[in-house]
Amino acid sequence: MNTLKRVALAMLALSIPSSTMAAGELVLVAGASGQSGRPTIDQLQDAGYKVRALVRDASKGADLGVELAVGDVMKPETLGAALKDVTYVISTIGAGQGGYSAEQVEFHGLANLSSAAKAAGVKQFVLMSSLKAGSEDKNEFLNARRGMLLMWKGKGEQALRDTGIAYTIIRPGGLLPRPNMPCELGKVGLTLAPKNTLTGGAVCRADVAAVMIAALGDADAVGKTIELIQDEKAAPNNWRGTFRTFQKD
Ligand SMILES: NC(=O)c1ccc[n+]([C@@H]2O[C@H](COP(=O)([O-])OP(=O)(O)OC[C@H]3O[C@@H](n4cnc5c(N)ncnc54)[C@H](OP(=O)(O)O)[C@@H]3O)[C@@H](O)[C@H]2O)c1
Repeated sequence: MNTLKRVALAMLALSIPSSTMAAGELVLVAGASGQSGRPTIDQLQDAGYKVRALVRDASKGADLGVELAVGDVMKPETLGAALKDVTYVISTIGAGQGGYSAEQVEFHGLANLSSAAKAAGVKQFVLMSSLKAGSEDKNEFLNARRGMLLMWKGKGEQALRDTGIAYTIIRPGGLLPRPNMPCELGKVGLTLAPKNTLTGGAVCRADVAAVMIAALGDADAVGKTIELIQDEKAAPNNWRGTFRTFQKD
C-alpha cells in the first residue's frame, strides 16, 4: 500500500468512534493469501491491530508482512496453534483452486475453524460469506457450476452460529475489482441490508474488509447476518454506525 493510501486510511480511522478502535488485539485472518484477505490485513494493520495470517503454504504469505501460521481448515490439528492468544477471527476462506470441494471448505472447513475458535476462547468470529448463501436453487449459477456452493456456504454459516461463539456474518455481492471494473476503498457509499433481502449488486473487496473490521468488538454487530453491496449514489462511510439497525438472527 502506498503512503498516500496509508495516510488516508489513518485519517479515516480517526473518524471512527473510539469504542471500535483496536488496542493491539490479535486478529487471525483466514484466507489471508486470497484477494480479500490481503486488503483485510492492510486495513487491520492501519487500524492498530496485530495480525496473524493463516496460510496453507508459507511461501504464499511471505509478502504479507505479518506473523504467519501455517494451517489448513481441513486439518483441525493445525488450527489450535494458529488460534493461540487470538481475540478475533476474520475468515475470507473460499473453495477455489485448492483441491477441495465446496462442501469440504465452505462447510466442514468453516465448521472446523469456528469450533476451534470457540475452543480457543476467541471473542468474535467475522465471516465473509456471500449473497444468496443457503440457496438450494440448482439454477443459481454458483450452485449449478460450483458444486452447490451457495448451499454449502449456508451450511457453513449455520455451523458457525451453532458453535455459540459471538459472530458477525457479512454477505457481499459480486466482488470487485474485476477486469475493466476497478474499485477503491471508501470511494462510494454502501448498502447494508438484512439477510435474504438483496438479490444482486457488486462491492469492492476493500470495502468488505472495512465493514468486517468495523464489526470487530462492536456489540451492535454480534449475532447478525448482514448483506452488502455498494451504492454509487450514497456518500462514502454512509454505513458506519448502522449495525445497530439490524435484528439479531
Ligand atoms: N467472487 C465473488 O464475486 C464473491 C462474491 C461474494 C462472496 N465471495 C466469497 O468471498 C470469499 C473471499 O473471496 P476471494 O475471491 O477473496 O477468495 P480467494 O481469493 O479465492 O481466496 C480464498 C482463500 O481461501 C484460502 N483457502 C482455501 N481453502 C483453504 C483451506 N482448506 N484452508 C485454509 N485456507 C484455505 C485460500 O488459500 P490458498 O491461497 O492456499 O489457496 C485463499 O487464501 C470467498 O468465500 C468467496 O466465495 C466471492
